Amino acid sequence: MDGVLPGNERKEVKAKSLKALEKLGHKDLQLDEYEKQIASEVIHPDDIDVRFTDIGGLEPIIASLRESVIYPLVYPHLFTSSSLLGAPKGVLLFGPPGCGKTMLAKALAKESGATFINIAASVLTNKWYGESNKLVAALFSLARKTQPSIVFIDEIDSFLRERTKGDHEVTGMMKAEFMTLWDGLTSSTDRILVLGATNRPNDIDSAILRRMPKRFSVGLPDLEQRQKILNLMLKDTELDKSFSISTLAQQFDGLSGSELKELCRNAAMQPMREFIRESGDDHEMLARSQEEGFKLRPLTLEDFSQSDGTDALPPLDGVPLD
Ligand SMILES: Nc1ncnc2c1ncn2[C@@H]1O[C@H](COP(=O)(O)OP(=O)(O)OP(=O)(O)O)[C@@H](O)[C@H]1O
Ligand SMILES: [Mg+2]
Repeated sequence: MDGVLPGNERKEVKAKSLKALEKLGHKDLQLDEYEKQIASEVIHPDDIDVRFTDIGGLEPIIASLRESVIYPLVYPHLFTSSSLLGAPKGVLLFGPPGCGKTMLAKALAKESGATFINIAASVLTNKWYGESNKLVAALFSLARKTQPSIVFIDEIDSFLRERTKGDHEVTGMMKAEFMTLWDGLTSSTDRILVLGATNRPNDIDSAILRRMPKRFSVGLPDLEQRQKILNLMLKDTELDKSFSISTLAQQFDGLSGSELKELCRNAAMQPMREFIRESGDDHEMLARSQEEGFKLRPLTLEDFSQSDGTDALPPLDGVPLD
């Protein structure tokens, strides 16, 4: 076997990967088969719709990411005056689910100006002896050829978790290779950063954690942050005169950004439901509204109490909750 993919699939991967890289201005790269496979994980900024301005309440983290991550990667000349300056080789975003870690990474991919390689663990864990190591090597060599670059590993705990005796030999070798190549990045010539995100930082191999000295805690939003998040989420929705975002933010103590989003969605459904009911199943009228436009009544605070959060996590049908 001369490769990891059958012929057809290989061609597809090649076409896709070269497109994103070409659009990024990397036209004449000489890539081997493994690098091409990794290249299909490169994300082009145009394919991402999250910006830093879409993220509520994380301004300090965003500012710090700009200063300590983006600028050293993209404007290295600013940081050459001292050997103490320079981009960290590893950055970790950690915190409870649904609070914006993946969103931050996406915004970085959109706005950093670096090549963004979004690598899924499944791409690197190949059951064929030796293939995983070649893919890991290809990951770092591609990152080098296309730098400045960010290697993003979402849910890094599932990939580089504490090594145990139960680890498959191939997995162990792959991790060791990953760390060796990571250590091989030198701050003077390489502008490559490994960015990880996790909601289980305690499950990460301590050797890996050590390689990510720059860590950002993305916690549950406080009152002020919830207010900012709700402001963003409701910015395109017409609100009733009596509507108070700060009252809403106070009510939702302890909820994550993604739970707030779900509540807003459910609440926004109320005026829509009324509109549909009022139409009395008049399909002609509903069809006409497509051309003529339609107006929903403004959203009220009561719409949120109709859907009081129990909707946010629907019961999983058929899945026993024990
Ligand atoms: N600070 C925020 N501002 C705006 N929207 C947010 C924020 N945090 C979360 N959201 C909303 O919640 C969704 C989920 O967030 P995200 O995927 O970034 O969570 P996460 O921290 O990566 O969670 P997990 O640990 O489960 O992967 C986002 O797509 C967005 O709609
Ligand atoms: Mg995530």
